[in-house]
Amino acid sequence: MDNYKNNYNNDKIKTDCREKKGDNAISNEKECEKNNLLSTQIGPISLPNPVILASGTCGYGLELIDLIDISSIGAIAVKGLSLLPRVGNPPPRIIETPCGLLNAIGLENVGIDDFLKRLLPIISSYTSRIIINILGDTALDYARLAKIIEENRDDAIIGIEVNISCPNVKEGGIAFGRSSKGAREVTGAVRGETGLPLIVKLSPNVADIVEIASSVQEAGADAVSLINTVLGMAIDIRKRRSRLSNIFGGLSGPCIRPIALRMVWEVTHSLSIPVIGVGGITSWRDAVEFFMAGASAVQVGTATLIEPDTGIQIIKGLERFMIKEGYNSVKDMKI
Ligand SMILES: Cc1cc2nc3c(=O)[nH]c(=O)nc-3n(C[C@H](O)[C@H](O)[C@H](O)COP(=O)(O)O)c2cc1C
Repeated sequence: MDNYKNNYNNDKIKTDCREKKGDNAISNEKECEKNNLLSTQIGPISLPNPVILASGTCGYGLELIDLIDISSIGAIAVKGLSLLPRVGNPPPRIIETPCGLLNAIGLENVGIDDFLKRLLPIISSYTSRIIINILGDTALDYARLAKIIEENRDDAIIGIEVNISCPNVKEGGIAFGRSSKGAREVTGAVRGETGLPLIVKLSPNVADIVEIASSVQEAGADAVSLINTVLGMAIDIRKRRSRLSNIFGGLSGPCIRPIALRMVWEVTHSLSIPVIGVGGITSWRDAVEFFMAGASAVQVGTATLIEPDTGIQIIKGLERFMIKEGYNSVKDMKI
């Protein structure tokens, strides 16, 4: 299965390069050489460059098509999808904090069926590398979602990313990702239903990130992405209440980068599972820090909300840095 997946993705990149040739053969040739330098392998997933747009910060991709060329991004991780559509939390549900953003969107989304039937055919005409982020209330929800995706396989779906930061309704609302038991349960449930590459997105709100990463690796994850948002809050001192309707929210942006970087380092220096670094990345320099910590790829989230072409600027800056410093692959940067 793994060999099949590797060959499948490598062939796809080569085909993409061949297809780009034609009138602009010379510039496209250069584009493909650049892709070779920037290309990365995340377990069974091959990407032409190591920059992914993070779930929840690029919508379903369509929101960005008038602003950037999404086909030049390594992959896009779409907004988390549940079995049924969700409206999310009432406002206020997003506020600025020093160097960051606090959000309690409440996982608003269109639901898996609408995404697969209506949105995927449109988005896949713009990019052939889509990661589907999923969420549920129970392990069974996650298993059902994986089964639906498996039954509707599309070449553009290069993997499933499992958001385990959601409350487990059967365990009193504690997030799956806050215990090894919950993390293992969800990962195993998804793995049982699909052969698609499986990325598990870890919550930073735990005492020992390596323990959680190890449990999802054992349960069949091909890679982990970390970190999701950090639990936080802000109080309106005049109104004497939380500034978010949900009281707590998830903190993202540059303020969480040192936490993310430390956790990526811990996992890459303890386990063999490939790691995608996420958290506060706003520039190619930030991305390089994550590659030096051992990440195989990075995701850009909040920064895209401020400047939609951040991901593209990171790819360009990264390439310049790699050529100047003599790196042949982002994995060479690990220290
Ligand atoms: C508004 C918003 C919505 C998000 N929605 C999701 C989601 O649906 N699923 C998920 O796994 N992560 C979600 N995230 C977390 C991001 O993908 C990312 O892990 C986090 O924001 C840290 O990266 P950043 O600092 O670059 O934003 C969301 C983040 C934000 C700011």
